[in-house]
Amino acid sequence: MKTNDHAVRCDGILKHFGDGEARVDVLRGVHFEARLGEMSFLVGPSGCGKTTLISVIAGLLDPNGGTMQVLSHEPAQMKSADRIVFRRRNLGFVFQQYNLLPALTAAENAAVPLLADGVSRDVAVKKATAMLDRLGLGHRAKAMPRQLSGGQQQRVALARALVHEPRLIICDEPTAALDHQSGEAVMGLLASAAVAPDRAVVVVTHDNRVFHYADTIAHMNDGLIDRIDRN
Ligand SMILES: Nc1ncnc2c1ncn2[C@@H]1O[C@H](COP(=O)(O)OP(=O)(O)O)[C@@H](O)[C@H]1O
Ligand SMILES: [Mg+2]
Repeated sequence: MKTNDHAVRCDGILKHFGDGEARVDVLRGVHFEARLGEMSFLVGPSGCGKTTLISVIAGLLDPNGGTMQVLSHEPAQMKSADRIVFRRRNLGFVFQQYNLLPALTAAENAAVPLLADGVSRDVAVKKATAMLDRLGLGHRAKAMPRQLSGGQQQRVALARALVHEPRLIICDEPTAALDHQSGEAVMGLLASAAVAPDRAVVVVTHDNRVFHYADTIAHMNDGLIDRIDRN
């Protein structure tokens, strides 16, 4: 397989927190890959290192060892300013707790990545509204987060993750706070809106009700990936 079929490729990633007696080795030599055009799931018990791993992939945490390529770039070799721009343009995030800004409308929340990249407010809100529309929420574009159900808020968070057309979408337990029906809806939208030949989605989840959306499932245990299943 050519390197550029991969959206993410991690080899021997190490990460510890603390030093001396307080040191905790959280990632103990992780091999993980996510291919373009696929949904790659990462599953495992609470505390095994899933959030730490995707934080490293997203460039939010620096690893202590190993090598990593993200969309054919090596973040470790990039200047920090370039890394920030790279991340802003190419990555989208969805979290368990939607992290919407309470004082902004749904469309304004979804527009945040574009505003952060210098797009004018009018254009950004217009694009965000179009993305909300695509996710079945166009009619709620002017609603405040508190006026929306959990499933609707997660769809706004999904619109925010997709609005700048990032090539890598990273989701940390995106359906954990949702009932089954809303969780299915969010996963289905993610699958249809985010999976494309030159894009990839990485999903951390405990939710075996949505495993059928996965192309691959990497099982993590105590800081290592010990099995990868292909659906
Ligand atoms: N900033 C941190 N400082 C110290 N320990 C941390 C930090 N972040 C995570 N950990 C520890 O690393 C382990 C893995 O955490 P995490 O990656 O959040 O697991 P998961 O997402 O699989 O539940 C846990 O034992 C957690 O307490
Ligand atoms: Mg976690």
